[in-house]
Amino acid sequence: MMKISVSIVNVTSYTGIELLRLLSQHPHFSVEAVTARSAAGQRLYEVFPQCYAGLKQRDHSSTGFDAALVIAEEPEQTDLAFVCLPHAAAATSVVQLLERGTKVVDLSADFRLRDAAVYEEWYKHTHPAPALLETAVYGLCERYRERIEAATLIANPGCYATAATLALLPVVAAGMIVPDVIIDAKSGLSGAGRSPTQGTHYAEANEDVSAYSLSGHRHLPEISQELTAAALAGGNAFSWPLRITFIPHLIPMTRGILATCYADLRQDDQRHVSTTADVKALYEAYYADEPFVHVIDQPPHTKWSYGSNNCFIHPTVDSRTGRLVVISCLDNLVKGAAGQAIQNANRLFGLTETYGLSPMSLYP
Ligand SMILES: NC(=O)c1ccc[n+]([C@@H]2O[C@H](COP(=O)([O-])OP(=O)(O)OC[C@H]3O[C@@H](n4cnc5c(N)ncnc54)[C@H](OP(=O)(O)O)[C@@H]3O)[C@@H](O)[C@H]2O)c1
Repeated sequence: MMKISVSIVNVTSYTGIELLRLLSQHPHFSVEAVTARSAAGQRLYEVFPQCYAGLKQRDHSSTGFDAALVIAEEPEQTDLAFVCLPHAAAATSVVQLLERGTKVVDLSADFRLRDAAVYEEWYKHTHPAPALLETAVYGLCERYRERIEAATLIANPGCYATAATLALLPVVAAGMIVPDVIIDAKSGLSGAGRSPTQGTHYAEANEDVSAYSLSGHRHLPEISQELTAAALAGGNAFSWPLRITFIPHLIPMTRGILATCYADLRQDDQRHVSTTADVKALYEAYYADEPFVHVIDQPPHTKWSYGSNNCFIHPTVDSRTGRLVVISCLDNLVKGAAGQAIQNANRLFGLTETYGLSPMSLYP
């Protein structure tokens, strides 16, 4: 069986350990190198006792990794690397990996925005490798499948950006909404990463819900970039630029994103749709061949996507106001990060897109 060697850069991050969990079920990717700053020199099972089974099953073809693997400071040569570092640190690592001929899926924001000036405006520092922005491919398979296959660097989309973009793509591409949308999104605490802060402290976050980044969240330019590109590709860029109000909220659960998106349906066009049945038919046709996007008849629960690469979407029209309401949900660490990264890597190596990604969530 073909084996492709893989490194996980910053395995001690939430997305890094989630990659290890998912890759342990992958038929072709074999994790042969892992890095982390503070845990360097320790073995995987010492840092993550949940890897113990990987220690006993010494035939790693069944586990995809060796739990006794020593965590290194710097990545070794492998065919593929998943980079799970914070932005800026990620770009430095990506440049080194690409120079060695390694294909890279970067989970940070460093290569998602095509314009370095927009990146610098939102991330408040000079882009470390602007030349790579031309070749990096935005890793949303539902939009860029063919480009991903030919790439060497994939910019894995942000978690909120994935939930919101998938929720709105069909109507934006078809030019069916007034270009003024509201995205009200809620995320579990793992979206903030593993490093503790006051806001993610149990006593602060438990039994509490709050909005944040009202002056502008960093996923806003990403959502705007992708929806605008979809409108242009669909030949519907008539009255753009698109206005987006995106308000994220922190909610006391471990994983999951629920995004509720609102937009007015256009009435000035012969193609306009106005009923829930029309809108649902449009979404079902758009996502008919997508293995991980599911258009459903009822408002989704984040629990339905927990631990899986699925994104559930419920489009509906409020009959009182005529307004389109689309609710989407996904697991921020899977379809919003590690699962989507594996989906992209499967494409990158010409493998079946669903390999290593269980169709079922954890439940309850
Ligand atoms: N969490 C999510 O839901 C999510 C979703 C999509 C994308 N992402 C993106 O994926 C990347 C990883 O996110 P994460 O949430 O998994 O990370 P995380 O859990 O916050 O990772 C934390 C670890 O990163 C290490 N670290 C911090 N700064 C570093 C630096 N400059 N150089 C090397 N190591 C550093 C620290 O390890 P030491 O203790 O060893 O220093 C820390 O323990 C980020 O770019 C994030 O934006 C995250």
